[in-house]
Amino acid sequence: MEDKKAETGLQTNRALLREVPLFAGMDERELTKLAGIAHERQYPKGAVLFFSDEPGDALFVIKDGSVKIYLLAGDGREKTLAIFGKGDFFGEMALLDEGPRSAIAETLEETHLLVVDKANFTRLLESTPRMALKIIRVLTERLRQANAQLEGLAFTDVRTRVAGTLKRLAAEHGVAAEGGVRIGIRLTHQQLANLAGTSRETVTRILCELQDEGELAMDGKYIILKG
Ligand code: CMP
Repeated sequence: MEDKKAETGLQTNRALLREVPLFAGMDERELTKLAGIAHERQYPKGAVLFFSDEPGDALFVIKDGSVKIYLLAGDGREKTLAIFGKGDFFGEMALLDEGPRSAIAETLEETHLLVVDKANFTRLLESTPRMALKIIRVLTERLRQANAQLEGLAFTDVRTRVAGTLKRLAAEHGVAAEGGVRIGIRLTHQQLANLAGTSRETVTRILCELQDEGELAMDGKYIILKG
C-alpha cells in the first residue's frame, strides 16, 4: 500500500518535473532520478521559506501556488524583486556561489514546493550539462529583468513603471480573458507598489486612471489588461 502510494507520488512528481522548463529535455531515467530526490513540502499563505543572509541548502520548484521574492529595509519598507508561479524555481543563487540567500522568499497563497537539497542539486548540474545551460539562460533573463527594473527606477515616471509592472505580470502570469489578459495572481495595491517601487496610494490612483481610460478592468480581485 505504502509502496503504491510512493510510486503514485513519484509519477506525479515526474509529470510535474517534465513541465518545468528547467528540466524539460531530461530523459525518463533522469526525470525518475530527480523525482526520487525531490521532496514535496506544503506551506500555508504567508510562510517565510527563508530570510536573506541565511545560508542556502536547497533549491525550490513551485508545484502549485506562488512565492514572492523581496528585500526588506531596516524601516520596514519592502522591494519585491519577483513573483514566481507554477513551474518556476528559486533559491539557486546561494547554492551556486555559496553565498547567503540574496533575498527573502514568502508564499503568497497555499503553495506546494518540490525541494532539492544542495548536494543533489550540485550532482544534477554536474551530470546534466543541458540543465546547467538552462539555469544560465534563466539567470540571464532574470538579470535582464533586474536591469529593466533599475532602468524604470532611474529613468521612468511612476505611471509608466506601474503600467510596465502590469505588463510584465501579464506576460509572466497571464491567462486569456474577455477583451484582454487576466493577471492570474491576486495582488494587493501594496504588493503592486512594492514591485513598481512606489507607494500604495500612488498605485491606487494610477489603477483608477487606467480603469477610467479603459486600459484595464477588474474581475473581482484580479486585474484584466485590455488588449
Ligand atoms: P537565493 O539567493 O538562494 O535566495 C533568494 C532567491 O531569490 C535567489 O536565490 C533567486 O532564486 C531569487 N532572486 C534573487 N534576486 C532575484 C531577482 N532580482 N530576480 C528574480 N529572482 C531573484
